[in-house]
Amino acid sequence: MWKGRFKTDTAQLLKDFSESISFDWRLYRHDIVGSIAHATALQAAGLITKEELEAIRGGLLAIRDEIDKGEFPWQRDLEDVHMNIEAELTRRIGDPGAKLHTARSRNDQVALDIRLYLRDEAGEIIHLISEVQKSLVDLGERNAGVIIPGYTHLQRAQPVLFAHHLLAYVEMLARDAGRVADARKRLDVLPLGSGAIAGSTINLDRKLIARELGFPAISQNSMDAVSDRDFAVELLSALALIGVHLSRLSEDLILWASAEFKFVTISDAYTTGSSLMPQKKNPDVCELTRGKTGRLVGNLMALLTLLKGLPMTYNRDMQEDKEPVFDSLDTVKHSLQIYAAMLREIQVNPAPCASAVADWALLATDVADYLVLHGVPFRKAHEIVGKTVALCLERSVGLADLSLEDYKALSPAFEDDVYGVFNVERSIDARTNPGAPSRANVKAQLERWKAELN
Ligand code: ARG
Repeated sequence: MWKGRFKTDTAQLLKDFSESISFDWRLYRHDIVGSIAHATALQAAGLITKEELEAIRGGLLAIRDEIDKGEFPWQRDLEDVHMNIEAELTRRIGDPGAKLHTARSRNDQVALDIRLYLRDEAGEIIHLISEVQKSLVDLGERNAGVIIPGYTHLQRAQPVLFAHHLLAYVEMLARDAGRVADARKRLDVLPLGSGAIAGSTINLDRKLIARELGFPAISQNSMDAVSDRDFAVELLSALALIGVHLSRLSEDLILWASAEFKFVTISDAYTTGSSLMPQKKNPDVCELTRGKTGRLVGNLMALLTLLKGLPMTYNRDMQEDKEPVFDSLDTVKHSLQIYAAMLREIQVNPAPCASAVADWALLATDVADYLVLHGVPFRKAHEIVGKTVALCLERSVGLADLSLEDYKALSPAFEDDVYGVFNVERSIDARTNPGAPSRANVKAQLERWKAELN
């Protein structure tokens, strides 16, 4: 492509070092769509004829079909997806193919291709997030009556509905989808027409190209347009956070599926056995999802690090953006797909949940609230209940086992209605503020999400 200026061939070592076709081939559909739009503008500017435009379009679509079928002869020596397609087009149709790159550089071409590609991928990610959300809402609904201990510091804290716990993840994922949609908004800008760095002396109708490709806006600075990968950073950041969220969910499920908790059983289809220990049933999907989060965070760091020292404008370093981006997209899509499916098959075990929730200590805060409602300042109430808990531990009994005299000795504010506090359902249902887990609230949230996700 640049043979005019060079006396000798590129070293084979360099060819192997610099090729990107082994991974950027997957941009081919977007590269072809972009080239057709570019050719349309060339024709509108009178630089190619209608017939030449048709030859280009026909040639590119035939190449696309061949690539679809896996029959296209990719050549490593042609470096990347852009040169492979253009060279083959020219080999097939001659001059019109050689005119295609008029007023275009691979710098604005690759910027266009990635934006087009990521625009589609972002839509797919948003869809897959909603599938996981649906599975979570469904799992919560199927187990609407189940109460489990809520934990802080992984110590039993207060009772919550199992569905409330799951809905926390639905909220996180909704923010994730919002972040992806937001990144998509900023990448939905046409960079083509920026040339290598300074546009072109041959002025094509950029707005026409934007319309052809469905871009609502065109870039306003040619130097920025060819050197900008902010949109990829934003997307990788959103993908890393999706990974972090799925990783936390994984951790919860791994704990819940353990013999110590037994809150849930993950189906055989989504667990694996041990080659040595016959009894084992391992939550590998959760562990792998948790583990893959390392790559998602790493890919974001790789891209940020790659960009940080680059002078304006395009530098070949930027070719290194693709593998992290593709890897994060693949990883997140796989994880979301398998999570949506695995969650659909999770069984909740009511008995272990009920026995965990029977822990009297979960209601200690409720007793403090009781005292507050009987006129005791909260800090005092906290201390009195602390002493009450200590007394229970000393006697190895629960809160409900202390006599009214015991209670009166701890504080005269206690009446015999204190025994009404020792009821988990009451504790849950008293939490009626927006966002709190009363059964009515959680039911309403499940309904809201079901409506929103459909
Ligand atoms: N394969 C290159 C990339 O991915 C395309 C742009 C090449 N531009 C150049 N001036 N060498 O970044």
